[in-house]
Amino acid sequence: MKYRNLGKSGLKVSELSFGSWITFGNQIDQGTSKELMKTAYDAGINFFDNAEIYAEGRSEEVMGKILKEFGWSRDSYILSSKAFFGIRGLESSKPTQTGNNRKHLTEACHQALKRLQVEYLDLFLCHRPDKSTPMEETVRTMNTLIEQGKIFYWGTSEWSAQEIMEAHMVARENHLIGPTLEQPQYNMLHREKVENEFLQIFKTVGLGTTIWSPLASGILTGKYNDGMPDDTRLNLEELNWLKDRNVVEEKIGKVRQLTQLAKDLDTSMPLLALAWCLKNENVSTVILGASKVSQLEENLKAASVTDKLTEEVMEKIESILDNKPRLPSF
Ligand SMILES: NC(=O)c1ccc[n+]([C@@H]2O[C@H](COP(=O)([O-])OP(=O)(O)OC[C@H]3O[C@@H](n4cnc5c(N)ncnc54)[C@H](OP(=O)(O)O)[C@@H]3O)[C@@H](O)[C@H]2O)c1
Repeated sequence: MKYRNLGKSGLKVSELSFGSWITFGNQIDQGTSKELMKTAYDAGINFFDNAEIYAEGRSEEVMGKILKEFGWSRDSYILSSKAFFGIRGLESSKPTQTGNNRKHLTEACHQALKRLQVEYLDLFLCHRPDKSTPMEETVRTMNTLIEQGKIFYWGTSEWSAQEIMEAHMVARENHLIGPTLEQPQYNMLHREKVENEFLQIFKTVGLGTTIWSPLASGILTGKYNDGMPDDTRLNLEELNWLKDRNVVEEKIGKVRQLTQLAKDLDTSMPLLALAWCLKNENVSTVILGASKVSQLEENLKAASVTDKLTEEVMEKIESILDNKPRLPSF
């Protein structure tokens, strides 16, 4: 396992990390969750990602129980939580139970610590931007949580470059600590923010990124190429919206071509897709998700495939993703 600095901070995060969205406390049982955590930790993964809203808090409870059972030294891993949506989501929560205001962020932090059974979070993120809370209130709250030793670094998720810069400006003006990282979606089918919008702030503020859905929820494994397999994420009824958005001919058509390319390179589609994410130096860590130990074991080999991503191969991938006709070679 290789480790990268989280942006300009000194924190060393494993280039592959592990998250529990959809799976823990929901799709898979406690035993499988435990095996997944052990497989990840034994392979050198040092960052585990979570959020208040994952399985209405149960994901944090499951992870907390597992961390307690293993008793790994607290200084050997990085733990995150994210707040904004509340436990039950924006629709079902009371007005004080959501958002990036002082009350919710502080209470959400305390509740996450309790569910995860730890004394502090290494990373605490605003899960989405909140236009109804002044930026200074959010930045001050995060700064206070840092000063109280309840969190070590704070970050954002799915914020725009402008919002992240505003947070940094407010922090600078008030001698507070700005966000160290952003957690954006990034994969072969979803690239805009990481490859364009954030380019400037990678340089100016040295933003770290913990990227999510590197396999586009499984689409980039190729397993949806020939129809809908049983027992997979996009078959879950609660995720019909995700299926409708992703299992579309335009995307699947590209994945079919990429799957052939992976075969030609003597690797698998998931490894090609994950290695492609790792190749981007502005990615601090690729958060893996898995519902089975065998998936995680396969995905952990991603770094060994980066060598196959030569300039020529990257160009081939680009031509597939851009859907542009390939130029004839002379
Ligand atoms: N900040 C945010 O807003 C946000 C949003 C989403 C996720 N996240 C974080 O990012 C983490 C990773 O996201 P993700 O779970 O969407 O990642 P992903 O890699 O795009 O999808 C993971 C899912 O793909 C399938 N899969 C993975 N490896 C496979 C393999 N080798 N072969 C076949 N199927 C495989 C599994 O689902 P099935 O077996 O069920 O098909 C697995 O649960 C989350 O756990 C969470 O911590 C953050």
